[in-house]
Amino acid sequence: MTPSRRSKFGLVCVALLVAACSKSEPPKESTEHAQLANEAVADDAVPADVRARIDADLEALFGTFEAPRFAPLDAWKDVGFDPATDAFGRGDAAAAREAFARSAALRFGFELDRVHVGDFEGVHLPEYALDLLLRIRARAAELPREARDADARAEVERWIVGWYPTLAESASLYRVQCAKCHGARGEGDGPTSTTHDPRPRDFRGGVFKFTSRVSHAKPTRDDLRRVLVDGLPGTGMASFGGLSRAELEGSVDYVRWIAVRSGVEKELLALYELDGELADDAANEAYASVWSDWLRADSQAVPVPTPTPDATSERIARGKALFLDATKGNCVQCHGESGVGDGPASYTLEPGGAHESIKDDWGRAIRPRNLVEGKFRGGRKPEDVYRRIWAGINGTPMPALGESKDANGAPLLSEDEIWCLAFYALSLRK
Ligand code: HEC
Ligand code: HEC
Repeated sequence: MTPSRRSKFGLVCVALLVAACSKSEPPKESTEHAQLANEAVADDAVPADVRARIDADLEALFGTFEAPRFAPLDAWKDVGFDPATDAFGRGDAAAAREAFARSAALRFGFELDRVHVGDFEGVHLPEYALDLLLRIRARAAELPREARDADARAEVERWIVGWYPTLAESASLYRVQCAKCHGARGEGDGPTSTTHDPRPRDFRGGVFKFTSRVSHAKPTRDDLRRVLVDGLPGTGMASFGGLSRAELEGSVDYVRWIAVRSGVEKELLALYELDGELADDAANEAYASVWSDWLRADSQAVPVPTPTPDATSERIARGKALFLDATKGNCVQCHGESGVGDGPASYTLEPGGAHESIKDDWGRAIRPRNLVEGKFRGGRKPEDVYRRIWAGINGTPMPALGESKDANGAPLLSEDEIWCLAFYALSLRK
């Protein structure tokens, strides 16, 4: 697969990060994603014919927001990847389908009860499952109620438990469940978005905060699904755990569709800005390159040592010392001595003495978390917090301590020190 193309993305964000982390010790590396999240590519500089060409390329690869699709790539045959069936995993597809069916049986229990007694007309499904509903209605119309024998009933049951939304259906699910916050086109600007702090995610940058991957890597399907199932405590992002597995995966498909599509768009605009032209195969190359970033995430897990050591009082005490130590964790600079998020690097001092909040990569004020409140959005198990400290939080000033090096280029923190910090962070909860 084409390796990720490095464009000039890296450069601008150094300035952004320097501004955001002016007082932070472990300097965050320059990142492609930070710039992607923040910088609207100046597409007014793009001539109309180039813009039209990009729009046509995007439509060929992705369809439209109403009729979304993913164009298949030859290279995927070698790696056994197909976005349309990716939800079933690349392992035991039969077992996966079984799990999906079990989840659908719970979610659509009422509907299955109707089918079971031959009442096909009594089946009501969400509007985004319209195709399935129409199929059931059609079957009802052609088969009189008294003729709906066990075979006919089992057939319709199989349709319901075997339903997996198309991308178009998932787009429609998204419009029902997510667009009011995340915006019709995933720009994070839905009608209720302004009432939320933090704001709903703008999916276009492909930047996700609470992943199980190394910093700046894309999230896996599991990461995105986990956010949907657990929600993000202390934010507007509630749990969607009531959805079936198929609906959850469909939502993951559509979030990825938005993010990958915009990734290709931004890459094309940036290429044009860089070279003043677009090669014939630019769109396909950008498509392969953006997808390869997403697929690479599978091999970019944060290395969490097992087993989890015991959270002894000795380890918690060492965690506290590391938290306060300016040459080690130095969490205190942001999270403050008591962990409530009021450290000296939680704001910048402007000329004239005004306090200015630090910003996230979307340009909004952000506060270091009040750890005393005990809300852990990436999960509250020790290994979840270990991961968070190791990989940081993408799009925010929270640094990746597991990737930080000391002056000699050795890891700044040992595995055990990161455990100690995780235990201490967890112990702060009142
Ligand atoms: C009531 C508003 C609201 C609704 C409805 C909502 N979200 Fe969110 N969502 C948020 C907010 C706010 C955040 C950002 C939280 C943060 O930055 O910590 C978020 C974040 C996310 C993230 C980013 C997670 C990460 O690790 O960065 C994903 C993915 C997501 N939402 C998907 C969805 C999907 C899919 C739906 C519909 C099924 C949905 N959301 C519905 C408010 C909402
Ligand atoms: C440069 C500032 C900064 C430093 C240094 C920093 N953090 Fe953070 N931290 C943040 C911000 C900002 C957030 C909230 C990000 C968000 O939720 O969007 C956060 C969030 C967290 C969370 C919440 C994670 C979750 O799953 O919700 C934990 C735990 C945490 N930090 C621990 C630490 C520890 C331990 C250290 C030191 C090793 C540290 N932080 C250093 C800024 C910082």
